[in-house]
Amino acid sequence: MDLDPNETEALVQRTARDYAERVIRPVAADLDRDKDIPRDILRGLAELGLMGVNVPAALGGAEAGVVAYALAMMEIARACASTAVTMSVTNMVAEVIARFGTEAQREKHVPRICAGEYAAGSFALSEPEAGSDPGSMRTVAERTEDGWVLRGQKQWITNGAWAGVFVVWARTGGPGTRGLSAFLVEGGTPGLRCGRPEDKLGLRASNTVPIELDDCKVPADALLGSEGEGFKIAMMALDGGRIGIASQAVGIATAAVEEATQYARERKQFGRSIGDYEAIQWSLADSRTELDAARALTLRAAWLKEQGRPFSAEAAMAKLYASEASNRICQRALQIHGGYGYVRDFAVERHLRDARVTTIYEGTSEIQRIVIARSATR
Ligand code: CAA
Ligand code: FAD
Repeated sequence: MDLDPNETEALVQRTARDYAERVIRPVAADLDRDKDIPRDILRGLAELGLMGVNVPAALGGAEAGVVAYALAMMEIARACASTAVTMSVTNMVAEVIARFGTEAQREKHVPRICAGEYAAGSFALSEPEAGSDPGSMRTVAERTEDGWVLRGQKQWITNGAWAGVFVVWARTGGPGTRGLSAFLVEGGTPGLRCGRPEDKLGLRASNTVPIELDDCKVPADALLGSEGEGFKIAMMALDGGRIGIASQAVGIATAAVEEATQYARERKQFGRSIGDYEAIQWSLADSRTELDAARALTLRAAWLKEQGRPFSAEAAMAKLYASEASNRICQRALQIHGGYGYVRDFAVERHLRDARVTTIYEGTSEIQRIVIARSATR
């Protein structure tokens, strides 16, 4: 594994950094306050190839690979974690359709996601009573003469109000994980209704909604993959998705370390920069070390995926470590800012609020430990 990005990866990283610095970072605090991301920001990401970074060029993607995707996510999250999660879920949806879709499904949806014709994509797995345990979901899909009808509720659906296409999981067979199938449902399909956006601690600009599937009719060709294959499709998509969330956590922590370092240089108490005190130096040293470890684990998982090698446990390790380290790093960064860290004049309180969810979604830390442990014991 080469730690230096190749030419394509460096180009994608530069492109993402430039867009993040120019367009996103200057308004990130406003997006957080207003609880919205202007669609032209999302279209801008698509125009730069960032909504389908690891998607084949034949389907409109950038075909730049998984490491490039991880690097781009880190750059966008460094500026705005809400924009990063919107981008992450959209890339995950583009990849899952590109991988498991029929030719017709791929050609219909993937180019639209990549080009920004759909503002975003949504991944509708979780339910009010089925989060860590999606195998217990209650949403059902019944076969009709000309397709399927979906009934149930989904919870916490990122991009729900903005999505052009949803991947929706539902039960088509018996109990447990083998009875699930995945469906493509277009935004605006009658019977799919988004509820009130959640009022969240962090990621306040991202859209998270509950979804009601009330006799939602979809055609026969909405089935993604084979009947009964839904759970495995979800797990394989999440293996890749967890690299995205690990990258998001690294991006947030990068911003926190940079801002804390600058503050430590500038803030004077007892006649000296606080960065001259050993307590502050050790705090920054611990954060920089953990940040580098998180970045290395994340890039290793991305590299393994790119090589076509097994990467499920490594993605879980990256997500577990990076999300927990990001929380510790943001806590330390806020402490270094003293009282000023506790108010919105500085971005560090937003980083702490945004980092918090990274140990929860796309599988909690406890679930990542289960994935890692099972890879060794099974
Ligand atoms: N790849 C392929 N197949 C897999 C797999 C993987 N990574 N993981 C499991 N499977 C297969 C198993 O081999 C097994 O196959 P068989 O039926 O042939 O035996 C089947 O799937 C069932 O596996 P398990 O018995 O391990 O299933 P489980 O019910 O014990 O659950 C789990 C395992 C890892 C805990 C899983 O339920 C899980 O990941 N839970 C967390 C859910 C999650 O991450 N949700 C995220 C929602 S999306 C989101 O959050 C987006 C966002 O925030 C932005
Ligand atoms: P629960 O599963 O009820 O877990 C509660 C606690 O119990 C956790 O600490 C958990 O780790 C622990 N626990 C559960 N089972 C075990 C076990 N076997 N061993 C040890 N501990 C266990 N979902 C989607 O499908 N699509 C999305 O786009 C999406 N976006 C989200 C965005 C946000 C902002 C949030 C907050 C969530 C989002 N989710 C999404 C849902 C997310 O994936 C779930 O919240 C997560 O999987 C946990 O499920 P839960 O909230 O139901 O918690």
